[in-house]
Amino acid sequence: MSGNTSQLQVGDKTVDMAIKQGSVGPAVIDIGKLYAQTGMFTYDPGFTSTASCESQITYIDGDAGVLLYRGYPIEQLAEHGDFLETCYLLLYGELPTAAQKADFDYRITRHTMVHEQMARFFQGFRRDAHPMAVMVGSIGAMSAFYHDSTDISDPQQRMIASMRMIAKVPTLAAMAYKYTVGQPFVYPLNSLDYTSNFLRMCFAVPAEEYKVNPVLSRALDRIFILHADHEQNASTSTVRLAGSSGANPFACIAAGTACLWGPAHGGANEAALKMLEEIGSVDNIPKYIAKAKDKNDPFRLMGFGHRVYKNYDPRAKIMQKTTHEVLNELGIKDDPLLDVAIELERIALHDEYFIEKKLYPNIDFYSGITLKAMGFPTSMFTVLFAVARTVGWIAQWKEMIEDPSQKIGRPRQLYTGSPQRDYTPIGRR
Ligand code: CMC
Repeated sequence: MSGNTSQLQVGDKTVDMAIKQGSVGPAVIDIGKLYAQTGMFTYDPGFTSTASCESQITYIDGDAGVLLYRGYPIEQLAEHGDFLETCYLLLYGELPTAAQKADFDYRITRHTMVHEQMARFFQGFRRDAHPMAVMVGSIGAMSAFYHDSTDISDPQQRMIASMRMIAKVPTLAAMAYKYTVGQPFVYPLNSLDYTSNFLRMCFAVPAEEYKVNPVLSRALDRIFILHADHEQNASTSTVRLAGSSGANPFACIAAGTACLWGPAHGGANEAALKMLEEIGSVDNIPKYIAKAKDKNDPFRLMGFGHRVYKNYDPRAKIMQKTTHEVLNELGIKDDPLLDVAIELERIALHDEYFIEKKLYPNIDFYSGITLKAMGFPTSMFTVLFAVARTVGWIAQWKEMIEDPSQKIGRPRQLYTGSPQRDYTPIGRR
């Protein structure tokens, strides 16, 4: 390695590869010409050492436990801002002025209703469908309802599609919830802020007046800020890969939603709460710690560990504080799940296995307890994650589409299957 290039020796060939510096964080080695020069690919399952794109949106220093949106620390945004301000920041790159913020809030608020026929589209789902299944289907269906904003070559249509998704995904999420509990859909109310409106769409019923609790609304808004973006995670990379083919933005965000559903990603908050319920009491914790450490047992402590954070997840610290605020507000003094969570965290942070593997609580460890206390069933946890992450997916998708060097994403492979062989007719097999 020297200056701005590095050399790779392959057989008798020396290949020069440019080293590209980011503004902060590790530099990258540009291997784009490697195949042309050596006839070899690189091999990196899970992208553990591979940067898939250049981005200016989110920065994570996993060793230091730092998360920045457009350069701003997550702690400051969660403390001082609101979710729509974060949305503006992620989309446009700068914090809005007061006038820009008021205009953005107004435009998002005026896009919250969904096409009336969408309600009939929902009727096609089974009542007991998982709300994430309904989300994947209904977000995908938006491209059929809003095809006047699917031309990705038109910047105006791209912006309208972006606004529509930030505004309408919460409405679809609330509808998914109402559908599973058999209650009527609640229309959005434009006089409410984004998160209060969402709470009302989830929990109001026509038979009673509903008053939004400002403490819960602020807590959920903060949870949305914490989940808004997380650079090139699995679902965001899915959105970018889907978008790289020129697919319309609604289809791309549906693809991201499907990826988020998995228990190793956005499904972990649901899995973490189920695990705390299964552990049940502080006395059972040692048994589960032993299971997590046993190489022959597939059990993992849900809500622990992260591909990038090898330190305390900065979002988990804010989440833990928010959990206490919500439980206090609701007068929940003795929550057995919280007792289990606190003790589990304490033991894991002092256990040699977890220390050595740098497994710290991640954001999903405390979010389940908070959302459950607010009244959301576990099946809605990943849906709430999707509501918040929609803006991150869109910002990353827009950045990719607007990048002149963008190409269709097409990974290569190390083929280990059979070499060429001749077909044997069925009677001779
Ligand atoms: N409990 C017990 N052992 C674990 C855990 C855990 N939660 N996580 C990782 N390990 C061990 C793992 O067995 C492996 O051990 P060894 O080296 O002896 O084989 C080592 O730690 C490294 O694990 P890995 O699976 O190679 O690490 P990864 O970077 O591929 O996985 C992860 C990251 C988040 C998928 C994983 O830590 C995990 O499955 N955690 C539980 C699920 C979870 O909480 N996910 C939410 C992530 S935060 C929300 C989001 O961003 O979506």
